Amino acid sequence: MSAPNKSYDPVEVEALKPEEIERMRDEALAAFAAAGSLEALHEAKVAHTGPTSPLALANREIGALPPQAKAEAGKRVGMARGAVNKALAARQAELEAERDARVLVEEAVDVTLPHDRIPSGARHPITTLSERIEDVFVAMGYEVAEGPEVEAEWFNFDALNIAKDHPARAMQDTLFVQGPDKKAESEVVLRTHTSPVQVRTMLDREPPIYVICPGRVYRMDELDATHTPVFTQVELLAVDEGLTMADLKGTIEHMVRALFGEGLTTRLRPNYFPFTEPSAELDMQCYVCRGASAGDPERPCRTCSSEGWIELGGCGMVNPRVLTAAGIDPEKYSGFAFGFGIERLLMFRHNVEDMRDMVEGDVRFTRPFGMEI
Ligand code: DAH
Repeated sequence: MSAPNKSYDPVEVEALKPEEIERMRDEALAAFAAAGSLEALHEAKVAHTGPTSPLALANREIGALPPQAKAEAGKRVGMARGAVNKALAARQAELEAERDARVLVEEAVDVTLPHDRIPSGARHPITTLSERIEDVFVAMGYEVAEGPEVEAEWFNFDALNIAKDHPARAMQDTLFVQGPDKKAESEVVLRTHTSPVQVRTMLDREPPIYVICPGRVYRMDELDATHTPVFTQVELLAVDEGLTMADLKGTIEHMVRALFGEGLTTRLRPNYFPFTEPSAELDMQCYVCRGASAGDPERPCRTCSSEGWIELGGCGMVNPRVLTAAGIDPEKYSGFAFGFGIERLLMFRHNVEDMRDMVEGDVRFTRPFGMEI
């Protein structure tokens, strides 16, 4: 190793000459002042303070100086770098302040603009009406029960006493689901009504049973003004000791009054359903004309077609065969059931004339029903 070169003249190190250091400093200051944006300033920063900047390179030269020259050169370079860093920080602060001011102007929110430029959505009236019906029954102590939309044939038909050759099973009504074995004869269907939930509920719970079962059902129908292949039903089931048709009528009358107004009555018309015995069709008094239009040509009523009554749905006392299939003793318990379509209910409750409006999902249809929850 050679001894330090005592005769080394720092003046000869070009990069450390005072005027060189001053030039480097001034160039840096000029570059910062000229930087018109934070990006440009960043570039100037790298060029003038980075590890390959003239001042950093000059700084490296100090190490090679003899000890007596080091202090002075170090001080000179240090002061220059200090001034450069200070100018950089000042310009940085200046440009950031400018940017903040600009962003505040550019991104200002005009709170006085109309608030409804983005159309808000709305819950579908089928949903709100189903929930409203649920609420009426929940207030009477009923529970909400649900079942699958893809259903075993046994639940959808057999357990409900619908014979194998019943026309309702025919291909034109029921949508069968092809199984993984691709056999034509599938035992799985898209449920054609919510009545299978009755059976599931009875198998699931012990009487007394009071349930309301809303849900989507499927039938092979063309979509037109009065039909849709997918629609919504609500099923009602009560199983307890000593229930009669009078309990059924009173319960539904309460629902009708809760949904359509006080004082309305209901009537039962004999009908046939395999899963109820006796069975009936349930009508409610027209809530618009209250029956006054019937037989009075002077007072026609659009809502009930001047019938005075509106057909609601099917009902009856649960067939003892159904109770037995669901493991309930028909000697001890009786039950009543009621099933009806929500789309139809919505149609006459809100004068909706075309069923397609309820399926198409156009917000122009949904919006007038508002955000009712
Ligand atoms: N499930 C029947 C249908 O979809 C409607 C029905 C009728 C349900 C009578 C019932 C009932 O609970 O008792 O056509």
